[in-house]
Parts: sequence; C-alpha cells; structure tokens
Amino acid sequence: MEQLRSVLTGPGRLPPGQQAGGSLTALAPMQDVTDLAFMRVIARYGAPDYFFTEFFRVHAQSRPEKHILRSLDENDTGRPVFAQLIGEDLHHLERTAAELLRHPVAGIDLNLGCPAPKVYKKNVGGGLLREPGRIAEIFATLRAAVPGLFTVKMRIGFDTTDNFDRIVDLVNEHRVDLLSVHGRTVKEMYRNEVHYDFIARAVGRARCPVLANGNVTSAVRASSILAATGAAGVMIGRHAIRNPWIFRQCREKFAGQAITRISLADVHGYIDHLFHATQVAGLPERAHVNKMKKYLNFVGQGVDAAGAFLHDMRRTETEKDLFSICDRHLLAEPTREFSVEPYPGVIARPNCETPSVVTDGCSLETITA
Ligand SMILES: Cc1cc2nc3c(=O)[nH]c(=O)nc-3n(C[C@H](O)[C@H](O)[C@H](O)COP(=O)(O)O)c2cc1C
Repeated sequence: MEQLRSVLTGPGRLPPGQQAGGSLTALAPMQDVTDLAFMRVIARYGAPDYFFTEFFRVHAQSRPEKHILRSLDENDTGRPVFAQLIGEDLHHLERTAAELLRHPVAGIDLNLGCPAPKVYKKNVGGGLLREPGRIAEIFATLRAAVPGLFTVKMRIGFDTTDNFDRIVDLVNEHRVDLLSVHGRTVKEMYRNEVHYDFIARAVGRARCPVLANGNVTSAVRASSILAATGAAGVMIGRHAIRNPWIFRQCREKFAGQAITRISLADVHGYIDHLFHATQVAGLPERAHVNKMKKYLNFVGQGVDAAGAFLHDMRRTETEKDLFSICDRHLLAEPTREFSVEPYPGVIARPNCETPSVVTDGCSLETITA
C-alpha cells in the first residue's frame, strides 16, 4: 500500500494504462454513483485504467466530504483514483487541493461541465465555460498547487462553442496533464447527439492526452470513437452502470481479441453483487430497493427490447419482489445474451437524451428518478 501511495501521490506522469501502448479507459465521475462500493463492483468485472471520484464541493465553508474521501483512502481496486473538485474560489480550491494531496490521489481533476442549473448559476462546473478569464485564474492556481497530475474534465461550451479553442489553449498554457471532453454543451444537457468533431478538435489542439466522453455505449463504439477522434482513450459513465464488463471488453477490442459475451445469468449475478455491495447499515429495505432501481434503470436497457424488465422492476418495493422480477426476467433464459448496445427506445427514465424531457442535474436522483 505504501508503495502504491508514493507512486500515486508523487509528482510525475500519467499512470500507464493496463495495456502497454493501448488506448486508455476511465470510469466517468458520477455523483451518487461512483463511490467506493461502486468502484469496487466495477473493479470486480474489469477495472478501467483510472477512476475519478464524485465531485468535492469547494467553497468557503467546505471540507472534503468524508464519504468521498473513503473512495481515496480505502481504494483497493488496484487502479489510481483522481479526486474531482467543483468550485471557483481560488483560495479554497488551493486549500482543498492541498488537503486532498495528503490522501492517496492520482491527481486533482477540475469539473468544468456539470450542467445542473443550481450549480452553473453559482458559476461553477459548466457555468465557468462562459468565463475563460476565470478559468485561466483557476488553472494557474491549481497548477501551482498541484505538483503531480492536474487534470480537467470539460463540456464543449455553455450555450455555444465560442470559447472552446480558447479553453483548450489554456489547458496547454497551464500544462494540464489530461483532458476529458464530454462532447456536448451545458445547455444540451444529455439530449443531443455527442459532437465528436469537437473531441477531435481538442485532440488536434491539446498537448496532453484527451479522453473522449459521451455515449460510449460499447467496446465497438469505443473503438470507432477513438478512430474518429484520435483520442488517447475513452471515459465511460452511464454505460458502465448498465454493463460493468465494458472496460474489460474495451481492452479486448483494443487488443484485437474476441469480446467477452455476457449472458442474462451473468447480469443476474451483477445485480445480486451490486445489491450486497451497496447495502449500508441502517438503510431501510425500501430505500435500498429504490437505490437499486436507479442502477437498474440503466441495466434494463440491455435486458429486453420491449422494456418489460424495466416496467416490472420499477414497481417493486421489497428485496424479495425485486429479486423475483430479476429471476423471472434474467433466469428464464439464462444463457440468452445481454445486449452489448442498449435496445433502441428502451430508456432510463426520464430519458437523458430525449428533447422533450429536461433533466436537472448531475445527480442520479434527478437523472433517473
Ligand atoms: C448520475 C450522473 C452523475 C454525474 N456526476 C458527475 C460528476 O460528479 N462530475 C462530472 O464531471 N460529471 C458528472 N456526470 C457526467 C458524466 O461524468 C459524463 O460526462 C456523462 O454522463 C456523459 O458520459 P456517458 O454518456 O458515458 O454517461 C454525471 C453523470 C451522471 C449520469
């Protein structure tokens, strides 16, 4: 552990991916999802090269949230974890970075993408994309505060992409070590198609490695997105909740090997494992079942084309009901394949990508409740 700590906390280079010379993979930071329990579950099915924490909120009264610190201090996934910050106050960003550097972090990541109005109205997250001048000050502050890896995760703009090139130039100017680009503006939320052309543009302009993010639904898609953008790797969020084997499958695809096929019985095993991994002492059964439904909203997109599993799963209230639905839908034909791509029209509710539905934020509560 000590050795791991010194490798990860020492100033230096991006920790190498698991596949020599191959494309990189990362689990996207997701508030209320990418906690220690979920990272451990993902690691069991095939860990990505890098993890990112949920964001640590930074303001005058903030202290690093204890439950997020656990995903650094107790990380036993074997993969480095970057600590993500969201905020705009220079002094408190510097203070928080210094505090987090006392923990086993791979580096410090800055959130320039959160689209929740309550967040961007405070001029943090995606709101900052309107103010390249402020971004320059934040980059300068964090670059000076972080001797090791300083990374940035951004959307391609607020309501337009007018500041995009300027912000990528700031990434170069302040020697950012890794840039993750979600190819949508803040105002596009999760609705529109991902603008992979802007990810390619970042790759052409940035001196650091770029991770392509947004709708990387499968290993095959990952491969074509990498070919189209020239990115150094992919960052995957919601589709890793649906399919935790996705990072292993990406590595197989990148190495030209056959992609592991997943059966419905395997998915049943994943749900069972996730249920036990996310059990917290004192959490009432009903609340735990509701928490599971948020993950299963995504899992259901690969179970059946009619959305029958999703329909039935959403009506359960007890552990017994939930698992009887899982048994019925997943063990009736246990060897049937779990779809590698989400079935078209089978949506995590409310639909993150349908124009008629406006989602409110980064939280799984607001995206899938
Ligand atoms: C439930 C949820 C929570 C999220 N929380 C964060 C966050 O804390 N920090 C961040 O930078 N992005 C956050 N995001 C955005 C994701 O990291 C990612 O950019 C987005 O989901 C697009 O990638 P995907 O299509 O692979 O899901 C969140 C997304 C979701 C669905």
